[in-house]
Amino acid sequence: MVNYRLSLATLGVVLGDFVFLDFNQTQGLRMNGDASPSTCRRERSLASLVGTGCIQLTTSRPNQVGSTWYHLPQPVQSGFESSFTFRITDQSQHCTQHRDLDFSLETYERCTSHGGNGLAFVVHNDLNGTAALGLGGNDLGYGGLAASIAVELDMEYSTNRGAKGDPAPVDHVELRSRGITPNTAYGADALLAPPIYHDLADGSEHIVKVKYVPWMDDAYLAYLAAYPTATRFILDGGEHRRIGLLLIFLDEGVRTDDPAIAVPLNLPEMLNLPGGGNAYFGLTAATGNRWQTHDIMSWYVCARNCAGTEAKGFRP
Ligand SMILES: *[C@@H]1O[C@H](CO)[C@@H](O)[C@H](O)[C@H]1NC(C)=O
Ligand SMILES: *[C@@H]1O[C@H](CO)[C@@H](O)[C@H](O)[C@H]1NC(C)=O
Repeated sequence: MVNYRLSLATLGVVLGDFVFLDFNQTQGLRMNGDASPSTCRRERSLASLVGTGCIQLTTSRPNQVGSTWYHLPQPVQSGFESSFTFRITDQSQHCTQHRDLDFSLETYERCTSHGGNGLAFVVHNDLNGTAALGLGGNDLGYGGLAASIAVELDMEYSTNRGAKGDPAPVDHVELRSRGITPNTAYGADALLAPPIYHDLADGSEHIVKVKYVPWMDDAYLAYLAAYPTATRFILDGGEHRRIGLLLIFLDEGVRTDDPAIAVPLNLPEMLNLPGGGNAYFGLTAATGNRWQTHDIMSWYVCARNCAGTEAKGFRP
């Protein structure tokens, strides 16, 4: 079990626009619905646990939905980079009764411990701004947000059917947007297919990095994937808004700078962002018939002052 942490060491020197290495203070964040600041226990070493602040997007109860947004919109047009770490705990247990027909009329119980539904990293320009709170359940708190793109970390697979109608057996990452139309977790709007399969709800701390480069960066062309639904967002907005690349890095890929996927799109055009291309950044989560605690342990967004990240290919 590996715990990925956000630290100044893994970041290099990040003079981000906002950095929350822990959430001991949450100034500048707006929280909606069931999201609230909390105290999370975190291993400092094998022997000791230390309490630090975190954002609990949902507690481990059914039908919760929460969102948190940074209070000021950030410029998207010139590129950005954002990382967060999260941890999933207290998954709900689900038991079913089975009857052993061969031998007796006795029933036995089979239980699985796998909660839901998951969380999302969201960039949006919805009219509700920092009060935006989407739908719960599979919509993970971002469904219903207009002008949004969601990197969805889906951990509720009982209703997600694979190609043959089987439940997709593992946690997975998807990218979802309908441009300026309210977003949804349903339907054929996924911008990735198949999704990226990756363990998420195993109790350890995971790190996700989302980066938008406002041009076709050679360094990442080997990771390129464009699913047909994404092609309508491969727009050229003229001199000032060229096609960019949205990159998603997971766990070890953050350290090695290997994205799990690179999707060509033009974010300011597809979300119809005004002028300088500003949008709100945040995280959402929801539970439904299955539940679990969604804790965000750390988060930063760098959209302007990304000194120190140029070394990895970021140019403002
Ligand atoms: C946050 O709070 C915890 C517990 O009070 C403390 O151990 C930790 O050092 C604090 N972190 C910062 C950066 O102050
Ligand atoms: C926006 O606000 C309205 C009015 O409060 C509310 O009915 C609606 O659900 C909100 N939508 C989102 C996505 O936050």
